[in-house]
Amino acid sequence: MAQRTHDNPFTAVLSGLLDQRSKEARVTPIPPHVRLDGRTCLVTGANSGLGKGIAIRLAKRGAHVIMACRSGIPEAGEDVKRESGSDKVEMIQVDLSDFESIDRFCDELRNRNVTLDATVFNAGVVPVTSRKNKHGLELMFAVNYLAKFVVLNRLLRDGVISNAVYGNNSRADDPPRVIFVSSETHRSSIPIDFDHFGEPIEYGISDGVKHYGLSKLHLTTYFQELSRRLNPQGNANPDVCVHALCPGAVNSNMAREAPTWMKPILKPVMALFFQSPEKASIPVDYLVVSEEMGTKTGAYMHMMRVKESSEASMDPDKGALLWSKTEELLRERGVL
Ligand SMILES: NC(=O)c1ccc[n+]([C@@H]2O[C@H](COP(=O)([O-])OP(=O)(O)OC[C@H]3O[C@@H](n4cnc5c(N)ncnc54)[C@H](OP(=O)(O)O)[C@@H]3O)[C@@H](O)[C@H]2O)c1
Repeated sequence: MAQRTHDNPFTAVLSGLLDQRSKEARVTPIPPHVRLDGRTCLVTGANSGLGKGIAIRLAKRGAHVIMACRSGIPEAGEDVKRESGSDKVEMIQVDLSDFESIDRFCDELRNRNVTLDATVFNAGVVPVTSRKNKHGLELMFAVNYLAKFVVLNRLLRDGVISNAVYGNNSRADDPPRVIFVSSETHRSSIPIDFDHFGEPIEYGISDGVKHYGLSKLHLTTYFQELSRRLNPQGNANPDVCVHALCPGAVNSNMAREAPTWMKPILKPVMALFFQSPEKASIPVDYLVVSEEMGTKTGAYMHMMRVKESSEASMDPDKGALLWSKTEELLRERGVL
């Protein structure tokens, strides 16, 4: 089958619509009676769109849900409590583009002795043109990829996510799960430029989606490498189950920065044809809850279909290089 492209807003929207009509085999949603009582789940970017849908779904199953959000405190938490009927919902503030904020957030989880059963890295950003964060890094690179590396490095070292590799208790009988919300756009990305790693790239409105795909290629390559590193014994009986997915096209606030002229077209298209956050959260729920996904690692889903992520993202040499370049960048900045 010809490879679909996602390199501009129109091909990305079209591809999202075609994906929803695909007839490929799908996994079955987990029925509502399966409970997560006594479990703690963290969801980033849970105040809006998909993240809020995920938080509601997990809270409905009885999980203690920690919503890690930059904004929407406390209103979004109140919404999630009301819509799920659960009061085991709390919010912690974090700006994932800011290393100091990430540090404070991770300190809070460690100091409270939180142990996470599932961690969903959902937050993402699509600036309309290139922008830098306060550390001089390109925003999509920083939020869509680098923040995940920094947060996880802390959570794994601090034992907030149990694991053997970082010398914390292994829970091999009941492994914690780490889930990344990626995107099929990673398949259409230009390759990662390891010679100029982390250097801010300038882009305009016409190639924003292409660079969004690049940030998701970083993330997807990292997810595969993390899965290998946390589970040196291989895919079976994992110590930590590390999975990723593309939720498909979601009617969220993702296009909030789209140019004014495009919004009258995008808004009705998204409202009519894209999935609701509630529906789009079903595959995330599957990765968090299903027995199948608790016995393996490195799974990638595209909506309700399990498939492989792109060849480039699965290349162990690229994964190892990405890891070492990222560590180098973070050390230079005093973050590691
Ligand atoms: N929508 C789609 O069609 C689609 C398709 C494939 C993949 N995805 C992925 O799905 C995920 C969720 O996106 P969405 O569609 O639900 O969009 P959304 O409604 O815009 O939600 C994005 C979330 O990320 C948070 N976020 C952004 N920058 C942040 C920062 N610096 N620190 C902390 N949180 C930050 C936002 O918080 P604020 O509200 O405070 O900005 C918001 O909660 C993203 O990873 C996106 O790439 C979306």
